[in-house]
Amino acid sequence: MTQQLIDDFGRRVSYVRLSVTDRCDFRCVYCMSEEMTFLPRAQVLTLEEIAQVARAFTELGVEKIRLTGGEPLVRRNIGDLVSTIGQLPGLTDFAMTTNGAGLRRHAVALRQGGMTRLNISLDSLDPERFRRLTRTGDLNKVIDGIHAAKDAGFERLKLNAVVLKGRNDDEVVDLVDFARRHELDISFIEEMPLGDVSDHSRAETFCSSDEVRELIEQHYPLTQTTEATAGPSRYFRMADSHTRVGFISPHSHNFCSSCNRVRVTVEGRLLLCLGNEHSVDLRAILRRYPGDNERLKQTIIDAMALKPERHHFSTDGDVQIVRFMNMTGG
Ligand code: GTP
Ligand code: 5AD
Ligand code: SF4
Repeated sequence: MTQQLIDDFGRRVSYVRLSVTDRCDFRCVYCMSEEMTFLPRAQVLTLEEIAQVARAFTELGVEKIRLTGGEPLVRRNIGDLVSTIGQLPGLTDFAMTTNGAGLRRHAVALRQGGMTRLNISLDSLDPERFRRLTRTGDLNKVIDGIHAAKDAGFERLKLNAVVLKGRNDDEVVDLVDFARRHELDISFIEEMPLGDVSDHSRAETFCSSDEVRELIEQHYPLTQTTEATAGPSRYFRMADSHTRVGFISPHSHNFCSSCNRVRVTVEGRLLLCLGNEHSVDLRAILRRYPGDNERLKQTIIDAMALKPERHHFSTDGDVQIVRFMNMTGG
């Protein structure tokens, strides 16, 4: 039987989020500071090292891999990594979280490489506001990227919108309408306190999922689905549409008790939980013992003992994680 990863609380880890770069062509105000600098190349895992990590995890029973960033599509030769990982036996779900701007160029290669799902960030439908929230982003390029992904045959596309009070909370229903029109799912995300972004006070802009839900329900009654997702989203349906509306609410509804996931940062740090600093340095193993897959796997197995029972985010900013989101992969 395939080995499995089980932590000290009996949770099986079947899902890994691999960050492939800390770089991004956007600078979203909740994710990065304006003057963000990026890691020197030597500190970043090579594509071969990332593939080796992915293989070790699938040999340990991981069935789902999501590539994250920064922005994964700005990593050079990302298509090669996608097709290598896409061929790993045992993988049933292979996804990417992207800002969408590079999809016109990459969508076909991702689909051909075996990727099945994409999550695309979209916080506003107003080009100027989109620019302010992302600091550098071009809305038209992202919308074109969404079309390119559909054309390439991606069936399950999900939008992610981080809702900030006074910045885009008045667009929640418009975003749902956009998702309905294009037959996409959409998740609304509560802002998480990762990194000191200096652009705004997170306590002032915090908008809870309950508030967002009330706004939507003034237009579309929502019915909660019964599907269990061992993930952060709680999904709802509307009567007359295939679109699912999700809420990711790390503050108000944490899903730690059924957590099935770990992350690997672009520096090869295996993070056992988004909201804690517990980690194990896989890069050191990869570089000290090149090609020693068994040692890598044993390191991962041993790391499970470090997975904490739950995270401790709060809205008043008293637990502020120093890591930025682009280092973590969301
Ligand atoms: P699936 O992989 O299909 O479950 O999608 P997802 O919605 O988890 O992935 P995505 O990369 O689109 O992330 C959307 C938001 O959920 C981001 O803001 C993530 O930071 C957040 N998120 C993902 N995993 C976790 C987690 O383990 N804990 C918390 N609190 N938030 C998470
Ligand atoms: N809080 C919540 N979500 C965030 N994202 C990035 N930074 C934050 C944050 N501080 C989201 C992006 C993207 C996903 C990878 O994480 O919008 O959808
Ligand atoms: Fe880039 Fe995504 Fe962070 Fe925005 S949220 S700056 S698109 S990594």
